[in-house]
Amino acid sequence: MNMPRSLLEEVMTVSLRRGILYPSAEIYGGLAGFYDFGPIGTRIRNNLIHLWKTQFVEARDYVYEISGNTILPSQVFKASGHLDHFTDPSAECSKGHVTRIDQLIEELLKIPAEGKSNDELANLVMEHKIRCPVCGEPLRGVKSFGLMFGTNVGGDRRQAFLRPETAQNIFLGFKRVQTAMRAKLPFGVAQIGRSYRNEISPRQSIVRVREFNQMEIEYFIDPRSLNECPFFDMVSNVSINLVTREEQNKAAEKSSTDYSSTQLTVKEAFEKQFVPNQWMASILGDEMIFFQQLGIPAEIIRFRHMRPEETPHYSGGNFDLEIQFSFGWKEVIGNAYRRDHDLQSHMKGSQKELSIEVEGEKITPHVVEPSFGIDRILYAILEHTYRPKDKSRGWSWFQFPPNLAPYHAVILPLLNRPELEEVAKEIYEKSRKMGLAVLYDDRGRIGRRYARADEIGIPKAVTIDPQTLDDDTATIRNRDSASQTRHSLKKIPSFLHPSKQK
Ligand code: GAP
Repeated sequence: MNMPRSLLEEVMTVSLRRGILYPSAEIYGGLAGFYDFGPIGTRIRNNLIHLWKTQFVEARDYVYEISGNTILPSQVFKASGHLDHFTDPSAECSKGHVTRIDQLIEELLKIPAEGKSNDELANLVMEHKIRCPVCGEPLRGVKSFGLMFGTNVGGDRRQAFLRPETAQNIFLGFKRVQTAMRAKLPFGVAQIGRSYRNEISPRQSIVRVREFNQMEIEYFIDPRSLNECPFFDMVSNVSINLVTREEQNKAAEKSSTDYSSTQLTVKEAFEKQFVPNQWMASILGDEMIFFQQLGIPAEIIRFRHMRPEETPHYSGGNFDLEIQFSFGWKEVIGNAYRRDHDLQSHMKGSQKELSIEVEGEKITPHVVEPSFGIDRILYAILEHTYRPKDKSRGWSWFQFPPNLAPYHAVILPLLNRPELEEVAKEIYEKSRKMGLAVLYDDRGRIGRRYARADEIGIPKAVTIDPQTLDDDTATIRNRDSASQTRHSLKKIPSFLHPSKQK
């Protein structure tokens, strides 16, 4: 019997076929938790990064972007605490399969398990007779599994590690950036780059992988000014869905993880003290504005105040932006009020001064950090813009917002006739010169070409047909409605611009 395919399987089938993403080293059988982005996925990813940089870096003259290395000496991670504490709980079966046990418990028992001690988890495994998800054998004991990838550098084989977050380079270079840019508090340091975690059970395509991409900002703030965020007024009326700790406690009493959220404005979240400071409130609103551009409905976006057992001891409050996927709610952004923990830890570890002087007073800035996971956001976009084939359209397609789509338009000569191809090439070149991302496709039947364009979510298709030769017009097909309208050739490139598209 054929089982119906899950949404994840459907999305991945199209993604593989159309070069959005595929397993790394696929011809050798791949390695779990590693994916490459193909030509189409890379274009979408670049667009996502561009949107992020435009809103969070380019628009703010107090945010500086850096680009740091991914391999760092072991002292960094000793000081940051990653070497000693960056672990996930694992359980092994008699056949040697290792499973991330807190997540398995959450899935099977529908109770929150992240942050429970190994003993508590082991008791739950025994009590509920939880077995290996791979082979069904009993699971034995629960251990902490280190997530850091180690390596050795140079002839003296100095021990080093691949960074598990981009944030550490930012703390390490804090003083350099501050002095080089003559930066005054508050200021932000942003970084986009790869991070590595030796996840026990990578899964759900690019949602949990071992090599991934982050876009992070560390905002360095005078601890006396945590309630003076420069962009608060811009976001204060933005509406957010908040899952409070109280709500999570109520759900836990019913052994449930089905949380309701409270809808309130950023201003209310701050004034009613649901968040630790104005900076955190503002960041949540900022993220909602960003997400409006991604094609993900606001109703399935929420901020969850992490429970105390999930929150690091130094944190003044963590608020994950979670999205509802077909397989449940998942964090895609971690927002943390890290206080001065990181700078203090590196001051201690390196014996270097990382405090700064503000009006004659020595200050160790506090940090509020929004940490975006590029891969998870991309998968969320794929899942939420995916449209399965139906009666009206015989193929599946992606409804990417024009700013994210891999191309703004595809240019199609209807028939293989040199006079049509010549006009089509002219439109193609003219559009490229105007800075538009356009694709030229002259292979196969026109219906097939529309399908190919829809499958990678190209919002517009321009068709050059015999009428074009008579009256200098061509049709523009709208991906979403599949309707076609005729326009003069002169005007066509300007219609393709994303600002002209809904
Ligand atoms: N500097 C803070 C930090 O790294 P995090 O909550 O551990 O915080 C931030 O990670 C984001 O990075 C997550 O919300 C997620 O989107 C992404 N991320 C973390 N681990 C990941 C993994 N194994 N695979 C894909 N994305 C991951």
